[in-house]
Amino acid sequence: MCGIVGVVGHPQAVEILVNGLKRLEYRGYDSAGIYLQDHQQLVKAVGPLKALEGKLTPEINGTLGIGHTRWATHGKATEENAHPHTSEAGDFILVHNGVIENYRELKEKYLSADHFYGETDSEIAVHLIAHFAKESTNTKEAFKKALAVIEGSYAFGLIDASDNDTLYAAKNKSPLLIGLGAGFNVIASDALAVLDYTTEFLEIHDGELAVLTAASVQLEDACGHGVKRESFVPEIDSNDLDKGTYPFYMLKEIDEQPMAIRRIVKEYLHEGQHITPALLAALKEADSINLVACGTSWHASRIGAHFFSEWVAKPASALLASEAGYRMPLFSAKPFFIFLSQSGETADSRQVLVRVKELGYPSLTITNVLGSTLARESDFALPILAGPEIAVASTKAYTAQIAVLACLAQALAPKEEQIDLAHELSLVANGMDSLISEKETIAAQADQYLATTRNAFYIGRYMDYEVSLEAALKLKEISYIQAEGFAAGELKHGTIALIEEGTPVLAIINDPVTASHTRGNIQEVKSRGANVYTIVREDLAQAQDNLQVPVVNPLLSPLVSIVPAQLIAYYATLQRGLDVDKPRNLAKSVTVE
Ligand code: G6P
Repeated sequence: MCGIVGVVGHPQAVEILVNGLKRLEYRGYDSAGIYLQDHQQLVKAVGPLKALEGKLTPEINGTLGIGHTRWATHGKATEENAHPHTSEAGDFILVHNGVIENYRELKEKYLSADHFYGETDSEIAVHLIAHFAKESTNTKEAFKKALAVIEGSYAFGLIDASDNDTLYAAKNKSPLLIGLGAGFNVIASDALAVLDYTTEFLEIHDGELAVLTAASVQLEDACGHGVKRESFVPEIDSNDLDKGTYPFYMLKEIDEQPMAIRRIVKEYLHEGQHITPALLAALKEADSINLVACGTSWHASRIGAHFFSEWVAKPASALLASEAGYRMPLFSAKPFFIFLSQSGETADSRQVLVRVKELGYPSLTITNVLGSTLARESDFALPILAGPEIAVASTKAYTAQIAVLACLAQALAPKEEQIDLAHELSLVANGMDSLISEKETIAAQADQYLATTRNAFYIGRYMDYEVSLEAALKLKEISYIQAEGFAAGELKHGTIALIEEGTPVLAIINDPVTASHTRGNIQEVKSRGANVYTIVREDLAQAQDNLQVPVVNPLLSPLVSIVPAQLIAYYATLQRGLDVDKPRNLAKSVTVE
């Protein structure tokens, strides 16, 4: 979703802004823009960053600037709605990520005489700052007055057109970091954006405002008190951000899964890092586990809920954050909350975390970004150690989340339920390796089954049903094939009406207990013309099956059976000539509710 980069005091400000926005491309966007203060140059373009770059000439340069990639929420993807936005007289320039909830009230109360170019809530914010500037002694005061009346989520970068030395920033609920450079300073939605220029960062907390010059950074809270905070160096290697020889990040990230699982085995199980006695005590104290997440992370949560129910005998359920945020279900007396989020920034999940904290319940975030908002704000945080995930379609984060949940549930499990998880996960990593080595076969099968179809169904039972949900999501989000995942037995209660001659039905069979039932469902759809493709555990396979997956612990089977489904989605998308990494309309980091 929207990405922000800002720089003060660097002669190559344009380069930092453009490279930073490129690094943030993965978040999803549909227009982009930059503003350079030194010669007051504003450039915007709809579509990919290439369109913006095409408009940049050597004359566009400077030392102070802000840049933005916009994922449309209020108003279409047009140049008028693209950021940076300027106040009516052009005296303030602003970029915004988030949603200003009371923008209509603000417009009516303070800005009824103003003319607006676009339809965004963000444009209101910069007009509001200009409005308050008339009754303030300086820009910081005007910015603070505007922040005091704005309700909603925001990360702002602000420039005063009469000041060549200062960059202002503020945040509430949307991500923003300060990067500390030698002779310059930057702001960015994500450390990844500016890692090529600095590795030292400073957090801005909600409600805080920052004033940056080339040589200084001042932070203050909403009451105007100065804030002193230690800087930190994120554990990311900028080399991880390159595709290397891969055509797309998604394929690289699929291939990195065995490595991520082995890293989890090493750090969590062999070295005993990360899961602290305090976390275990809090989990033991709880009488239920509530996993909260969105999208792929919700699918991983559903699998985690099985781990807690089956290994720990604790009632566990997976809640959709976007639903729970508005209507919290009835909880047990001592619930524990686990937030799963690759980015750690998903606004829907954060909304639930805020509520959980108000209610006084303990919380843990399992994430790929330990410095993220959810990780910081929950009582405990665990890393999934997957390395940066850039492709919008999540792959290695899903399997790493499941593996960390397995480590956590096993750490809580009574003796009789304990397994040799390090060994089991090593088998999983080896199994993933062998499936990854079958790319060519899977590519050909994707072509054979999905080349021309408009829809497809994944079916399975028990853990295979859980995988079907994620497999269908992968397929639909990047190939645009309308794909649904179903509990195999449920198909006949309605959806079987959609099966016609040639409809692809992809069946996953890993569970010996339910295998024969799923085979029965396969017969039902076959007799109605379905084109059935089967992904089956080696020892349950029959001659007609299409792809065999290695035998692993049944509860861990999603970790292997998802790999062919990820590859099927990847190749079906390639064959359709689509951009695998940046599917239309989707954002990697969804920072609005
Ligand atoms: C977006 C992404 C999904 C992701 C979901 C949750 O919708 O496109 O891939 O699963 O957000 O993101 P999170 O960072 O919280 O795991």
